[in-house]
Amino acid sequence: MYKVAVIPGDGTGPEVVAEGLKVLKSLGRKIGFEYETETYDFGGERTMRTGEVLPDSAVEELRQFDAIYLGAIGHPDVKPGILEKGILLRLRFELDQYINLRPVKLYPGVDTPLKDKGPEDIDFVVVRENTEGLYTGSGGFLKKGNPDEVAIQTSINTRKGVERCLRYAFEYCRKRDREKSLTLCGKTNVLTFAFDLWERAFHEIGAMDYPDIHREYAHVDATCMWMVKNPEWFDVIVTDNMFGDIITDLGAMIQGGMGIAAGGNINPDPGGVSMFEPIGGSAPKYTGKGVINPMAAISAVQMMLEYLGETRASAILEKAIVEVVRIRLKSMSAGKMGYSTSEVGDLVVEALERV
Ligand code: IPM
Ligand code: MN
Repeated sequence: MYKVAVIPGDGTGPEVVAEGLKVLKSLGRKIGFEYETETYDFGGERTMRTGEVLPDSAVEELRQFDAIYLGAIGHPDVKPGILEKGILLRLRFELDQYINLRPVKLYPGVDTPLKDKGPEDIDFVVVRENTEGLYTGSGGFLKKGNPDEVAIQTSINTRKGVERCLRYAFEYCRKRDREKSLTLCGKTNVLTFAFDLWERAFHEIGAMDYPDIHREYAHVDATCMWMVKNPEWFDVIVTDNMFGDIITDLGAMIQGGMGIAAGGNINPDPGGVSMFEPIGGSAPKYTGKGVINPMAAISAVQMMLEYLGETRASAILEKAIVEVVRIRLKSMSAGKMGYSTSEVGDLVVEALERV
């Protein structure tokens, strides 16, 4: 019996999470796995109502679950940063979800803006470090508001944090068993401290423990170029928090858009609690209209099942997703799918019966 905490969150989060849960329910019946969910109302509305972003007890409670299923965080009436830092980043940090795993996979029949590229070219995974770098909140102001103001924001890179992320990426690349090629994405020509550490650790660990994995290095700017020009060159990319944030938005676009891109915030350690989410955000302008594509949220369920060890359920769900996006959806974009949000969920449930 799996225990899943559900945080629908803000904007269109609740709409897409409802479809993910619909699919999960139907799969559970079909495959025979059991789970229970508990819903938490963290997000902008609750923050405005209670003045509290995330109660301390919440983090402790969430540790008791096998996984967390998250919709979206971000509300137009709450100052940017408050909810993101107070909920999303706080959970990533306190639950030590040190990997942000973001597959970039173009399914057949889905449009990519890349000319002459197809599903055989766009199929790689980004392993983003998720607890360090520029995201730690290290830094501050000096003379804030004055003409001679100073703002400092420091990138924190620890040997331990870098090493555990690299090891996860090497292991993932080995398990994935495709090109067995791992690319470190950095900026060694400018960030000569941070990425010196990354690069040294990358080659030390690789040579010592992963001789079967081919090692590549690419600067982050060049990585953006190759992702557009020759995405087929990538198998697994490993990078720091900030660069990972940026290149995975680009990745989402080449795989068909935010309507389809999912990710997992993973704590791979024994007893670790991981959190799965569509990566698209709360999309306030589409809230309540029933036009947002829930496929990313449904893919997040698929990643969650894989992580829970429900390999068969995950494989069946991926087949259903592939079928629905290939034959049914006209587009991955909000309002252009040819179906409403809940109809897309229904299509996946229907497809599950056939695959
Ligand atoms: C993401 C988001 C978050 C991030 C924001 C909302 C804090 O962009 O999950 O990629 O920067 O990590
Ligand atoms: Mn992002």
